Amino acid sequence: MLLKDFIRDAVKALEPLYPEPEARSIVLWLCNERLGVKSYTHITEPSFEVPSGAVGGLDADMARLQAGEPVQYVLGFAEFRGRRFRVDRRVLIPRPETEMLVEEASSFLGSLTGKPRVLDLCTGSGCIAWSLALDFPGAEVYAADISEEALTLARGQFPDGAGHVSFFHADVLEDELPLPEGGRFDLIVSNPPYITESEKAAMRPNVLDYEPGLALFVPDDDPLVFYRAIARHAGKLLSSGALGIVEINEQFDQKTMAVFQNERFQKVQLVHDYAGKPRFVKFFAK
Ligand SMILES: C[S@@+](CC[C@H](N)C(=O)[O-])C[C@H]1O[C@@H](n2cnc3c(N)ncnc32)[C@H](O)[C@@H]1O
Repeated sequence: MLLKDFIRDAVKALEPLYPEPEARSIVLWLCNERLGVKSYTHITEPSFEVPSGAVGGLDADMARLQAGEPVQYVLGFAEFRGRRFRVDRRVLIPRPETEMLVEEASSFLGSLTGKPRVLDLCTGSGCIAWSLALDFPGAEVYAADISEEALTLARGQFPDGAGHVSFFHADVLEDELPLPEGGRFDLIVSNPPYITESEKAAMRPNVLDYEPGLALFVPDDDPLVFYRAIARHAGKLLSSGALGIVEINEQFDQKTMAVFQNERFQKVQLVHDYAGKPRFVKFFAK
């Protein structure tokens, strides 16, 4: 089969699920990963044939994509700040906006001396914790999640990397966190579940059917439940002058800020994402 014919048919097959440009970029990504071809090979080499040994695999990939499975799960990885994180249905696919949380955290860590201690609550794939651990190999990074399945996957990322993350099981909503070691932290980061049940209706089926609901949703009647818990933990665990950063639901920006103001943190402020939406709340411990 000619590569250009495969691409044409595959884009068409995904069009019921995605707008055409997105369907095309998914198919081109698939071809790049599975065949090693460039995004323009089918144009510059119109007679390029898909190797016969690759056709079965591509058909299996297409069946999963047509069923609505996100391309990152099909390929088994997601890109996050230039690194490949293993992902599957046990964890949320890291989102590009979360990269900004890591950037904010990194510029703070870069200003510290010594061996900063970092805590990532609701770590999922470990994308935030690992990014910081790998960029700051001198940091002591701890990361917690309630999902044992997510922790198993997160622990196995970057076995040969220079950084290290101590993962532990914890329900952030409990009063105490079972930290493996005592001591205060210089930085607490979290991207907790924050989408309300009523926002589900506006979401794409491929997110709802494949990504773990535990990672996404909070009850309509208590959308800030995780922020209250994080604020309580941060109040006990941050050292003086330390920073907290949480990703938020833009609908509740002022209310989320108020949660941290009520816990008596200083310089509580909103950080906007690249689309200009309020996306993070930053706060400092007194
Ligand atoms: C929005 S995902 C974030 C994953 C990752 N930090 C990221 O940014 O891609 C939220 C994570 O919170 C975890 N979680 C849900 N409820 C929790 C709880 N009560 N305690 C700890 N973790 C929880 C989920 O398992 C999921 O991995």
